[in-house]
Order: sequence, then C-alpha cells, then structure tokens
Amino acid sequence: MAWGGALRTGLSTDVFGSSPNLPQSGPEKAPDNRACPSSIKAMLQSTSSRALLLALAVLQVCACSDGGMGSADDAPGTEPTGPSAGPDPEPTQGEPSGRGAAGPGEYLADYATSDLFFTRMNAPAGSGSVHGTVRIWYSSNVEGLAAEEPFVVPEGTVAIKDEYDGSGTVFVKVVMIKKAAGYDPDNGDWYYEARNPDDSVASNPTPGTPSLCIECHRQGASTDYLLGFSIAN
Ligand code: HEC
Repeated sequence: MAWGGALRTGLSTDVFGSSPNLPQSGPEKAPDNRACPSSIKAMLQSTSSRALLLALAVLQVCACSDGGMGSADDAPGTEPTGPSAGPDPEPTQGEPSGRGAAGPGEYLADYATSDLFFTRMNAPAGSGSVHGTVRIWYSSNVEGLAAEEPFVVPEGTVAIKDEYDGSGTVFVKVVMIKKAAGYDPDNGDWYYEARNPDDSVASNPTPGTPSLCIECHRQGASTDYLLGFSIAN
C-alpha cells in the first residue's frame, strides 16, 4: 500500500537529523481564557485582512453567545433564577491545554475553504521531508502561535496535511486532533488518523495513538508535536 510504503521509507530516513531533542518542557499551563476575547486578540495581532474578517466573524458569534454582550436580559423585577452573582460560566468546550481558544476538535471536510482553518502554504509544496509534496492546514485558533514557540496548543486544535503523489493528486490526508488532557498524556494527548481522498478514515494505521505517527511527531517538542508549523510559501 502506498501509504505504508511511504512511511517505511520515511522511517529509514534521517528526517530529523538537525532537530534538537528538546526536553519536554512546554510552557506552563495558562489559566483558563475566555474563548472569544483571546482568539480575537490573536487575530487582531495578525495583520492580514482575512484574519480581521475572521475576528469580526468571531465578534459576532461572541455577541450572540454572550446573550447580547451584557444587554439586560434580566428585566427589572424578575427573580434571578441562575446561580447567584458568581463569575460567568466557562465555555463548555473544555479547558484549553495551552493558551487561546479551543479548536473545532474534529476533522471538517471543508477545511480548505472553512474560516475555521488557515494555511500558510499558498500552494502544495515539497516539504523537504520524506513526504514529498504536501499542503498543511491548521485550525484557526492557533494562527499566530508560531511566534510564541515553545508552545502547547489548546484542546480541539486540528491539523490536516494533504499528501500529493507524483501526478499532483492527493492520495492521503493525515490528521491530528488535540484531545483533552489525559487522552495520551505521555505523547501530548494527540489523536492521529489517516483519511482517504474521499474523506473516509483509513484503517491503517489504526486511528488513535499509532506509534508509527508518534515516533516521528514526538520530535516536535517545542511545537507540541507539530512538525510543519514553520512551513510557508
Ligand atoms: C517519517 C516521519 C513521520 C511519520 C511516520 C509521520 N509523520 Fe506526520 N509529519 C512529519 C513531518 C516531517 C511533517 C512536517 C510536514 C512534512 O514535512 O511533510 C509532518 C506533518 C504532519 C501533519 C501536519 C501538522 C504538523 O505540523 O505536524 C499531520 C496532520 C501529520 N503529519 C499527521 C501524521 C499522521 C496521522 C501520521 C501517522 C499516520 C504521521 N503524521 C506520521 C513526519 C512524520
């Protein structure tokens, strides 16, 4: 099978000859951040107009989900029904394991066009690794994080890499999803899977925590197991 063959070739090649084996000392866990404000801040720090549009989109979402940003839903005279004057409830998506907002947490087939994803690769390109021509997408919640290396990405972060064959056709999509703390604590709590071009999940390797994938990806200690974060064209 082409995929297995490619991986075997990969494993026998010294892809990471120059990668330092950094100690597993990620940044301290940041305290919970409210998803909306921190992601907007990250987006506004970026200068691209696409990011600004995204920020506006998120602002709108925040406005809705915050119940109108402080608009008086509590009409005067009505009994308060919720828990008394405590802080706002935290977002339900789970605690980010790093900083910033939680990501989508699942593979979304429209990643190439969705505002929930971004790429720094304007076109497929040779990555310089054994994987040939690739194009990588990350969930938008980690846009801008590269400047903060070493980093740990928030729960729900998704990375997708299209791998192209010699004729310029995607033959496999490999996917990483950052799970909740405790999923696979020795290996950064990442879930791995390979998908066929029709988006169905490939059975080889078995989705989850295949050592095949982890053995390579654990080299990315300062980028939370992500190896392609700096690739751009
Ligand atoms: C031979 C080493 C190696 C193996 C095995 C490997 N990868 Fe990777 N992976 C890389 C490298 C290097 C990159 C950076 C992009 C590139 O060079 O293709 C990468 C990038 C990725 C990305 C893009 C996100 C990122 O920045 O890391 C995903 C997603 C991914 N791999 C998933 C997988 C999955 C799933 C498996 C197992 C089925 C796997 N990889 C097995 C070396 C490997």
